[in-house]
Amino acid sequence: MNTPSFKTLTETLNYLEERHHKIVHRGLRAMYDLVREVAAWEDPNLQQQLLKPLFHFCKVLKLELDHHMTMEEEIVFPLIRNLETAQKADLPPSGRGLANYYLKHLVHEHEVILHTLHQIRQLSADYQLPFNAPPGLKELYDQIRFLHSDLDEHLHFESTYLFPQVDKLEAGKYE
Ligand SMILES: [Fe+2]
Ligand SMILES: [Fe+2]
Repeated sequence: MNTPSFKTLTETLNYLEERHHKIVHRGLRAMYDLVREVAAWEDPNLQQQLLKPLFHFCKVLKLELDHHMTMEEEIVFPLIRNLETAQKADLPPSGRGLANYYLKHLVHEHEVILHTLHQIRQLSADYQLPFNAPPGLKELYDQIRFLHSDLDEHLHFESTYLFPQVDKLEAGKYE
């Protein structure tokens, strides 16, 4: 992927919220509506083998991502913005060390989220449609595949670019 370049961390956070977080919020709503419809399909064998576990994993993914993004949007991103504002004004930042404390937790959550997506992919045999697929399953798989590919980019960008920049800022080395 091409890493976009930003002048400030605030610009980076705005980009993440405006682009990737909006995609996730919209994508999760669409995924959840579709999986509820698909899971109600009356085929006991398919229910047991695919639809029930698929519903379970989609619910887990939604819970994990809702929690994760709330933590970023309401706690960690505001802390990072405050750190940067304080650094620019040459003031001692309030909550120094806090952003760093949360970052390790967020990186761990990225791994958990990607693992859940991997479980969905395995369950669906790489998003292959069964011959007796219910209406909506193809659309659901397309939606999950799109979310997965966007999340790969989004979570990788945070873990390998954004969070190391915050570490540097906290250590007083941000240029
Ligand atoms: Fe994020
Ligand atoms: Fe994240």
